[in-house]
Amino acid sequence: MIFRQLFDQVSCTYSYLLASRSGGEALIIDPVLEKVDRYLQLVKELDLKLVKAVDTHLHADHITGLGALRDRTHCTTVMGEQTKADVISMRITDGDKLTIEGLALDVIYTPGHTDDSYSFVSSDRVFTGDTLLIRGTGRTDFQNGNPRQQYESIFGRLLKLPAATLVYPAHDYKGDTVSTIGEERAFNPRLQVTSVEQYVELMNNLRLANPKMMDVAVPANMKVGLAQEEIARRGWALSAGEACALVGNPATALIDLRERPERERHGIIPGSLHVPYPTLQENISAGGMLNELARSTGKRLVFYCAFGERSAMAVQAAQDAGLASACHIQVGVDAWKKAGGPLER
Ligand SMILES: [Fe+2]
Repeated sequence: MIFRQLFDQVSCTYSYLLASRSGGEALIIDPVLEKVDRYLQLVKELDLKLVKAVDTHLHADHITGLGALRDRTHCTTVMGEQTKADVISMRITDGDKLTIEGLALDVIYTPGHTDDSYSFVSSDRVFTGDTLLIRGTGRTDFQNGNPRQQYESIFGRLLKLPAATLVYPAHDYKGDTVSTIGEERAFNPRLQVTSVEQYVELMNNLRLANPKMMDVAVPANMKVGLAQEEIARRGWALSAGEACALVGNPATALIDLRERPERERHGIIPGSLHVPYPTLQENISAGGMLNELARSTGKRLVFYCAFGERSAMAVQAAQDAGLASACHIQVGVDAWKKAGGPLER
């Protein structure tokens, strides 16, 4: 496995680049906006293709790199289903797998620091965000934080992992880079409590100042801006209601860009083709399946995904490839459901 721990010295944030092989797909966890050039340089140097950018939670101390990475690599942006961040194109939940080529991370919902905090487990290591830090835990006094939930997340979930599991947090202010579950259970001062009440008491009396960046970072991270706004301005968007009328229309090819677990959980628009977003480019290039379909049959390509973000990027890519009929369903299956559109399981 290719694994890089990257540090932002301003916010003391750790970001992690993961891939299974040189030349393959990569994902990044908790990227920082100011470091995006550095990440992309490293991705290039290691001959990787960045396909997913993930935040463990909505950060209050730095501006996320998710929007910039999306704009520059067209990667899928991922967070938990509870998040209020607009930039997210794929939402995950407890029990899901966060996958790229050759790698599948277990997704664990670990609320408490915020109500959208997640941890990711990859065989011998866990990325804990701000839920569990090295000799500390993330504060629980804003962004719907909750010390009781955090206790459950740590004691009920993270500390149940094997003791040798490596702990990679989203921050460290002392210069520590990695720990283990066993080490934290034994030596983390916040975890030396005998009851949930004692933990709640401890967390409620920390009296910390707000992060310097909080008033800037939280609103900025909630509203990064959507890819689909520009696509709508260009006239390449259909409302879910308009798209409903196209089901069964032989002049239309509906194309689902989501991953298999999303299709299984939320259902599929009847008659649609499945072209997972990471395989889009090969499908729309000359000789690719969608390119051939559009050119030989004249069918209109109508892309869709979960929330309309991957499909908006797909429309732009298809238009760039000369497929002038390409459009998408704005706000995706989320809007489709609200419009009462049919879904098959
Ligand atoms: Fe945080």
